Order: sequence, then structure tokens, then C-alpha cells
Amino acid sequence: MPRIPAPPLPKALQPRPKRPGQDVEAGAATPVEAGITVVDWLDERTALSPGIRWLMWRKVPRGINWAYTLGSATLFAFLNQAVTGVFLAMYYRPDAAGGAYESIRNINDNVFLGQFVHGMHKWGASVMIILIFLHMGRVFFYGAYKYPRELTWVIGVVLVILTLAMGFTGYLLPFDQRAYWASVVGININAGGPFVGPFLSNFLFGGADFNATTLSRFYAIHMLVIPGAMAALIGAHLYLVTKLGITAPPWLKPGADDTDHALAEAEV
Ligand code: HEM
Repeated sequence: MPRIPAPPLPKALQPRPKRPGQDVEAGAATPVEAGITVVDWLDERTALSPGIRWLMWRKVPRGINWAYTLGSATLFAFLNQAVTGVFLAMYYRPDAAGGAYESIRNINDNVFLGQFVHGMHKWGASVMIILIFLHMGRVFFYGAYKYPRELTWVIGVVLVILTLAMGFTGYLLPFDQRAYWASVVGININAGGPFVGPFLSNFLFGGADFNATTLSRFYAIHMLVIPGAMAALIGAHLYLVTKLGITAPPWLKPGADDTDHALAEAEV
């Protein structure tokens, strides 16, 4: 199996040759050597570097294009939601007796950069949904869901459902009239589902109807349950992408010229 040669050490990390006559005290490390020593120290104890090389220095097929960046773009949108969500959570209060609406107003009107961060989170949600469907479309039209990548696809389908569930649970949090009624309608639509419908709506309302715990329930699902599950699933998704390599574009026919369809091979 051909191996990709390791990239050379950056200049700043290469040990400087000693000047003639320059005496270096035995055992004393120069600053550059000290830097290497810290990395070596960590690596000796964690053995992380082979894993990092495996993840970062991989072969990708010839002929890949911008459409292949949609998965990473979705990942970036997810991270944006996570980071802005943490800052919003510092000021948001899931209080159905008016506190939730007031806390959002406070974020928008008084908190430093509050409206900006809130806007990033709100619009970022739509951006993530658009990107995830574009990524899914790329994978579908390139046939990248076929053997051996079926599990990558199945995990992706769960990620789509969870992303939409994030949108649904997040919509209630501003707790204005639109948020309240949209959620009531949404939960009632769930209630109409066959067999599990009534149980689902009972679970989402936290009872037979909208009540004081519905908002905190949505908040817990929105900021703890779903993001936790998504982070784990994205980890599994990316592990599989790294392990299996990326598919070549379908218009590159294997056989004609070996260099033209170089299949992705993870450096193992
Ligand atoms: C949070 C959501 C997601 C993230 C962060 C994510 C991330 C990625 C990344 C970074 C790649 C490699 C580069 C690329 O092909 O774009 C990838 C590949 C892949 N993704 Fe996703 N993805 C997500 C959702 C989905 C969904 C919804 C599906 C399908 C239902 C899916 C199916 C796949 C498949 C099959 C591959 C392998 C593509 C290939 O080998 O060419 N992913 N994903």
C-alpha cells in the first residue's frame, strides 16, 4: 500500500546547527528543542501522533471539487451553533412565566454583542439545514452512499432528523406568540401520527397540554440531549469518512488511466 511521506518539519521547529565554538551546556535544551520536547513528552504518553497523521494526511481522489466541501461546511455550521448557543445559554432563562421572553429581549437590547450572537444562532440554524441537505444531495447524486459507505449514510439520515429536531425545539425558546403557537401546532401534528402519535405529543408537552414544564423540557432537549447525540454521531460519521476514504466523482471511469481514478486510501 503506497504511503504518503510525512511532511517536513516546519523551519521554526528544525534544530539550529551550533555555531563553531558555541558551547551548549550538556543537557540544556534550546527554546526550539524545548518545544519539540513538550510535543514528544505528550506523544510518548498519549501516542496521539499516529492518530493525528491518520486523520490529517490522507489521499483524496483526483477530480474532487467544491461540492466535496459541503460536509465540512455543515460541520462548521454545527460548531457555530454550539459556540453561539453556549453564549446564549449564559443569559437565557427557560421561564414560562414571562422570564424567557424577557431574557431574549435583554440579550438583544442590553448584552454586549447579544443581538449579533443571537442572530448568528438564529440564521445559522437555517444555514445548517440548507447545507446538510446540499451535502446529502451531493452524496446521493455522486452515489457515495453505496457499499461500503451505507453506514455513513444511515448515520447521516439520523443527523438530518436530529438537525430538524433542533430547529423544532429551538423555535419555542424565544417564547413569543409565534413561537408558542407554532410549537402547539407542531406538537399537535405529532399527536396525529399513527400509534405513537399520542405518546409523542404527551412526551413533548410533558402532559396532556401545554404547561409550565413544556418550555424547560424543550430547552433541555435542545441544549443537552440532541447536541450530545449529534456530537457523538458526527464523530462516528467522520471516523467512517476517514477510514473508508472519499469516493471519486462518478464520471471518472476506472481502468482508462490508473492515475485518473486514484482511489482514496487512508494512510494506515
Ligand atoms: C451534521 C451533519 C453532517 C456532517 C457534519 C457531515 C460531515 C461530513 C464530512 C466532513 C464528509 C467528508 C467530505 C464530504 O464528502 O463532504 C462527509 C461525507 C459523507 N457524508 Fe456527511 N455529514 C453530515 C450529514 C450527512 C448526511 C445527512 C448524509 C446522508 C444522509 C451524509 C452522508 C455522507 C456520506 C455517505 C459521506 C461519504 C461521502 C464520500 O465518500 O464521498 N452526511 N460528511
